[in-house]
Amino acid sequence: MRSMRALLLAALLVFLGRGGAGERAPCARSGGRQRTLAMIKPDAAASEEEIVALAHRHGLRVVARRRLNLSPAEVRLFYREHRARPFFPSLVSFMTSGPVVALVLEGEDAVPAWRELMGPTNSQTARAVARASIRAQYGTDGQRNAVHGSDSPCSAQREVSFFFGARSLVPIQLRLIFDRMVAMLDAMQRQPAPRPPP
Ligand code: RTP
Ligand code: MG
Repeated sequence: MRSMRALLLAALLVFLGRGGAGERAPCARSGGRQRTLAMIKPDAAASEEEIVALAHRHGLRVVARRRLNLSPAEVRLFYREHRARPFFPSLVSFMTSGPVVALVLEGEDAVPAWRELMGPTNSQTARAVARASIRAQYGTDGQRNAVHGSDSPCSAQREVSFFFGARSLVPIQLRLIFDRMVAMLDAMQRQPAPRPPP
C-alpha cells in the first residue's frame, strides 16, 4: 500500500509538472503513445463496426466517437489544404453525401499505424499492393476511399479539435497513469495471500 501511495503521488507530480489537464500532448514529438483522428467516410459508414473492430485488432483503441453529417463549409475547412485541387468540388459533394464517423484512436505510433492500416489513397492501388488494408476492402477508387487519417501528430491535434474541441477528452498523460495503476492493482490482486504462520 505504501508503494501504491508513492506511485499516486509521483503520478500527480508528473501530471501537474506537465501542465495538468489543460496541456495538450506536444505535437512535434513522434513515436510512442499517440492519438490520431480517423474518419469513416460516407461510402463506408455502414461498415462502422467492422472498421472499428479492425482498429482494435491493430492495437488502436477508440477514445472518442461521433457520427455526424458534415456541411459543405465544414468539409471545405477540414480539407482546406486541397482547395485549389481540381477534385475539390467533388470531394465536398462526396463528403456531404451521407454521415461520417469521426474517431479518436489511441495507441503506439497511432498516426502512422492508422495510415498503414488505411492503405494507399486510391482503393484500386490498395487492392493491388495492400490487400488487407481498409481502403482495399471498403473503398472504391481514388476518391471514394472509405477512411481518412491524420498525416502527422500536429494534423492529428488540429483534427481532433475540429471534431471534439468542445468535448472533454481525458488527456493522454492521465490515461497512461490510469492504465499503469490498473495494471499494478491487477498484479497486486494476482499475488497469493500470505500464509498464516504455523
Ligand atoms: P485523407 O486525407 O482523406 O486521409 O486521404 P489521403 O491523405 O490519403 O489523401 P489526400 O491527398 O490528402 O486526399 C484527400 C482526399 O481527397 C480525395 N481525393 N480525390 N483524384 C481524386 O479524385 C482525388 N484525389 C484525392 C480522397 O478522398 C482523398 O482521401
Ligand atoms: Mg490527407
